[in-house]
Amino acid sequence: MTELMTSIEQMVRAAGDMMRTAFNAPDRPAYSLKGQQDYLTVTDGAVEQFVREQIAARFPGDGVLGEEAGGLVDGPRLWIVDPIDGTANFARQIPHFCISLGLMVDGQMEAGAIYEPMHDELYIAQRGKGAWLNGKPMRVSGIADLKASTVEVGWSTRIPVDTYLAMAGKAAHAGCSVRRAGSGSLGLAYVAAGRTEGYAEPHINSWDVAAGLLLVTEAGGRVNDFWGQDGLRVGNAVLVTNAALAEAFSSLTGIALAA
Ligand code: IPD
Ligand code: CA
Repeated sequence: MTELMTSIEQMVRAAGDMMRTAFNAPDRPAYSLKGQQDYLTVTDGAVEQFVREQIAARFPGDGVLGEEAGGLVDGPRLWIVDPIDGTANFARQIPHFCISLGLMVDGQMEAGAIYEPMHDELYIAQRGKGAWLNGKPMRVSGIADLKASTVEVGWSTRIPVDTYLAMAGKAAHAGCSVRRAGSGSLGLAYVAAGRTEGYAEPHINSWDVAAGLLLVTEAGGRVNDFWGQDGLRVGNAVLVTNAALAEAFSSLTGIALAA
């Protein structure tokens, strides 16, 4: 493994240890609400701070964009971090959350990892080299029939409820099994691992999907042009799918695939 990939693995595993310890603490993670259904725990900030310190020590001069503290996005090398994706799950004692960390170089994702600490699952990818789950190469599923497929449709208060329901409803009427598990990053990782066939959300932020988009393309799947229209700064719709159902999911969701 290259020095870069070893560093990424070490950072996300250490961050995952922090989350697991907080999750298992007898007084359980205390949380506040930033707004409707918008959870915040002290661990979100602590993990992001830790990752920022690690990046500054290991890769001095690189930029960092994080969910909690923001950041400048104008240098050639940018780390994109969501310290806890699935914060609502984490706060409510549901063991389905992760850290997502990706490195963008000159506007292109170079490497990324998602670590899910409660099941010790490390999803990692490097551009042009492949994607792995706990050391095993990942491939998207070969399911080619919508009626045998599972798709996750993400939701947040940033979009009207009806927009979400319309997307989820179309997928359900087409015969898909529709789920919503509350972590967009893990939703993308599951497509890369062949556990589900698609993940779509009308609006999501770049820290939720930076690593996952690379995981999916390196695992042979298809994605939309998330980075178009300034997705890095303001977010965008996201669609990731296996190869076999890419056109079908694109037409169901109305989200165009990247070439
Ligand atoms: C959210 C989760 C959720 C997705 C939202 C995200 P958070 O991030 O990934 O599944 O639907 O768009 O904002 O609040 O858990 O970090
Ligand atoms: Ca998030």
